[in-house]
Amino acid sequence: MGVITRGTTAPNRLRRVDRWLLGTRSGLLRGRGGAAPLAVDLGFGSSPITAVELFLRLRTVRRDVELTGLEIDPERVAAARPYTRPGLRFEVGGFELPVARPPVLVRAFNVLRQYDEAAAAEAWRSLCSGLASGGLLVEGTCSENGRRAVWVALSPGGPLTVTFAAHLGSLERPSVLAERLPKALIHRNVDGEPVHAFLNAFDRAWDRAAPYGAYGSRQRWVAAAERLAEDWPVRDGRRRWRLGELTVPWSAVAPATAPSTAPSTAPSTAPSGAPPAGLLGRPPEKGKDG
Ligand SMILES: C[S@@+](CC[C@H](N)C(=O)[O-])C[C@H]1O[C@@H](n2cnc3c(N)ncnc32)[C@H](O)[C@@H]1O
Repeated sequence: MGVITRGTTAPNRLRRVDRWLLGTRSGLLRGRGGAAPLAVDLGFGSSPITAVELFLRLRTVRRDVELTGLEIDPERVAAARPYTRPGLRFEVGGFELPVARPPVLVRAFNVLRQYDEAAAAEAWRSLCSGLASGGLLVEGTCSENGRRAVWVALSPGGPLTVTFAAHLGSLERPSVLAERLPKALIHRNVDGEPVHAFLNAFDRAWDRAAPYGAYGSRQRWVAAAERLAEDWPVRDGRRRWRLGELTVPWSAVAPATAPSTAPSTAPSTAPSGAPPAGLLGRPPEKGKDG
């Protein structure tokens, strides 16, 4: 399922999401009995480098973890195959996750932004339904050099959290991360939408934290996170904020409205309609900290 899109990638581009995965979700790999856990890197691109990096990073947590790099472009898979090694393989495939057993982790980075909103929502549904029990899909977008990234973490039941991550030394203000919002949110950075309110609040907190800039941008980000946490359900704490990360529950920034458009598998070139209700939409009964 899916369509071939641009294959842009670069070494170490996905270091921020990988660091977050290892720092906050390494339990995914542990405590699963004797069976080797399987991870998938979906849409690894024109070079398998970020898939190899993820494999090596996950192996620091669990020596027998296996990883399959999936790509919809058979030529890219053929080019990746020389990098095959025990535990690491490359296969042609897409959202249907054609792997031997349900993966505990699927990382899909810079893949869905080229689809329209409805197709991206359908991809979430398909990928979530393919996860192992307790598994995680991490779907996001980043800049070419990986210095700015935003990702959504999803369980088999749907979205859990959204994480904003940046190289702080080069960050003008938090709202520049709007450029990197995943497909589910990129068209929602407008008046009346929670993610727009959130980014504005983050900018205000950043402005109020300006005096901390004298101690460095890291201190300023941490101070801004503390201020933001007064009004928003900011997760984690200083340990992760110091890394230039900030995580909120999906329910805090989920689209306010979730009208449906017909799912399509075609990549989009222009903003489209809203995603189907339910998986993407704001949960009706939860508040900002739901
Ligand atoms: C921009 S590259 C991203 C490479 C790498 N993940 C990164 O972030 O650096 C996107 C890749 O996703 C692939 N792709 C697009 N849709 C796909 C699908 N449904 N299943 C598998 N791969 C897909 C494209 O062919 C392309 O190679």
